[in-house]
This record gives sequence, structure tokens and C-alpha cells, in this order.
Amino acid sequence: MPNVRVHDDLEKLSAAAAELIVQVLERAQPDRPRASIALSGGSTPRKLYAELGRHPWRERIDWPRLHVFLVDERFVPPDDDESNQRMIRETLLASSPLSEENFHPMPFIPNDPERAAREYERELSAFFGRGASFSLDLALMGMGPDGHTASLFPGTRAVEIADRWVAPTMNPAGPSQRLSLTLPVINAARTVVFLVAGADKAETVRAVIEEQAPVFPSAHVAPASGELIWLLAKAAANRLSASIAD
Ligand code: 6PG
Repeated sequence: MPNVRVHDDLEKLSAAAAELIVQVLERAQPDRPRASIALSGGSTPRKLYAELGRHPWRERIDWPRLHVFLVDERFVPPDDDESNQRMIRETLLASSPLSEENFHPMPFIPNDPERAAREYERELSAFFGRGASFSLDLALMGMGPDGHTASLFPGTRAVEIADRWVAPTMNPAGPSQRLSLTLPVINAARTVVFLVAGADKAETVRAVIEEQAPVFPSAHVAPASGELIWLLAKAAANRLSASIAD
């Protein structure tokens, strides 16, 4: 049975997500010198990111030992309105004591997304070591109405990328150029959390959770040994069978 938790609205959803992330870190941090999470962009997690730096969650996170990476990025300058890095700076970094050294945004190298992807892969290997794979403590995912997640879009071959950790990808619907963690990295995470709100996603949520419809990249998120949790606002869950949504 999929692990699905439904909350009334974005306010309650954001609070539940903050509590879940803090619990994952409270479990991870005692055992390891550093904990690592990767965050998605988009509009849904904005409130959550701002909340994490505030009471009652702020004091429960060991910030000097937390490292924050990005799940994906729109290939735009860091000060662009579309930039996920900018959004996370204006929310999480603005409200929390997370240091600049512990924040790992994806690089922007004008006209060279391939080099930017390679550079971020080097940064990941420098942090995690150049082993076969590594495990984030948590990957926070979003999902579009088209079933994309991270910057892995339907109708592209992005979900098939298996020989690298970070790849330049295209959003067929624009803005077009993106950088994204690949599925092997996402599926190696110890905990993967989907945070989804909006009635426009309800049918896709049902098809992904209840049918694992392969046309949707989100359906390919299946942690190898980690936990997969769906945190949904009520409107995004309204097509799910009662047995799953209750
Ligand atoms: C991005 C994201 C993307 C996002 C979905 C949902 O950079 O856009 O990482 O995968 O999670 O598009 O976005 P919303 O939360 O805005 O609906």
C-alpha cells in the first residue's frame, strides 16, 4: 500500500512536511557527521522552506551539520525570477541559520548546460565520495500536472538516463533548458517525499500512485531501499480511491 498522507490545505501540508523532514534529520544526524537533503523548486514548497527556519522546527535541526542540494534547476542566472536557487535563498536561507558553505546550488554557466551538469556532479562526488552511488538522507520532489518531477519531463528520454548523476534536460513546454538529478540518484535516497498540491494534478496523482503509469516520470520514482511518502493537499488527492486516501 503506498504511503499517502492527505492534508486539508497548503498550510497544513507545509507543517506536516516540515515535521517529517525534521524527524528524518533527527534520525539521520546522530549517526552521521553530515546529513544531506535535496530540494525541488516550483511554487508548492515555498511555504515549507520558509517554515523550516522558524519555530518549532528551527531549533530541532542541527544546521551546521546539514547540507542542502538541489533536485533540479531552471537553466537561468541565479538572480532570475525563475531560479530555484533564488527561491530557496529567499525562503530557507532567509529564515534559517543555514550557512552559505552548506548550501549547494546548481551552477549556471551561460550556454553550457553540459559543463554545468558535470560541475555539479563533481561537487556531489566531492561531498559524497566517488563511489558507485551515494544516498541523500531525503529528496523532496514535486510533480507537475503532466507528471514530470525534478526536471524529468514526459515525452523526453530523461527518465532513461542511468549513467550519470546530473544531466541537462529539456522541458518541452518551456522555459526549456534545465539541469536535473537523475533517477538513479533520486531512487538511492533514504527517504523520498512527494509534496503535491492543486486540483489540476489530481488525475495524474491517481494514475501515478494507483497505476504507476510509465508515461509519467513521477511513476519511475521508486526508492531502491528507501521510503517513498506522498504528502498531498486534499484537492490533489480527490481522485484517489478511498482505501488509499484515508
Ligand atoms: C521545478 C521543479 C518541478 C516542480 C513541479 C511542481 O523546478 O519546476 O523542481 O519539478 O516540482 O513543476 O511545481 P509546482 O510546485 O509549482 O506545482
